[in-house]
Amino acid sequence: MKRINIAIDGYSACGKSTLARLLAQKLHYIWIDSGAMYRAITFALLKAQIDLENRKAIEFYLKELHLDIVVDEQKCVSQVLLNHQVVDQFLRNMEISESVSFISSLKEVRLFAVNIQQKIGQRKGIVMDGRDIGTTVFPQAELKFFLIADIDVRAKRRLLELKVQQPLISINEVRKNIEERDHIDTQRKISPLQRAYDAIEIDNTHLSIEEELNLVFDLVNTKFLK
Ligand code: DC
Repeated sequence: MKRINIAIDGYSACGKSTLARLLAQKLHYIWIDSGAMYRAITFALLKAQIDLENRKAIEFYLKELHLDIVVDEQKCVSQVLLNHQVVDQFLRNMEISESVSFISSLKEVRLFAVNIQQKIGQRKGIVMDGRDIGTTVFPQAELKFFLIADIDVRAKRRLLELKVQQPLISINEVRKNIEERDHIDTQRKISPLQRAYDAIEIDNTHLSIEEELNLVFDLVNTKFLK
């Protein structure tokens, strides 16, 4: 059966990763979380105490950085390896969330990450979520989705996730960070967050994840699997 690439883009905390993961499992494809790559780069730069105002220092640092995506075919997922180490557990916290949009707006960072993403795309059978997948990474993707949801609903969903690691975090803090990231991600010069002209927009404010998954799976099925 023909394998395709599926791009899922959208605003912060719209449930892109959850949908991408479940869809990849249902199709026996591989889920790639492109945001995790930008988070891993941010984690590495912060840990190495690189001056984020110093573009030359960032460029130099990226030349030495090993960022790999390892695919688990059985589980239909992938992991980011930073200098050969798993770093997933360090990526989803407020410290990273506060710097990641700035870091990912830098040209050298985007070139670095997009190059890896496009190489992985050559294998086909990828569900990749992010901000510029349908526009820049896989402009030829056979199917593209663009997720939107009400800001209060997004903040509540993200708060529930973050509370496990950071019990003192407030809804206002989470909401403010989401709004700031949306602003930077949509306004940046290089491949800003925007809906690809051929992406299908889904507002999941009032949808359960099962409803959303069924909707998307039916579309994939009708267009490509039948
Ligand atoms: O999906 P996420 O919230 O983990 O993404 C973190 C940040 O990474 C997001 O605020 C912007 C950036 N990002 C990007 O610029 N391009 C992508 N394809 C994915 C994420």
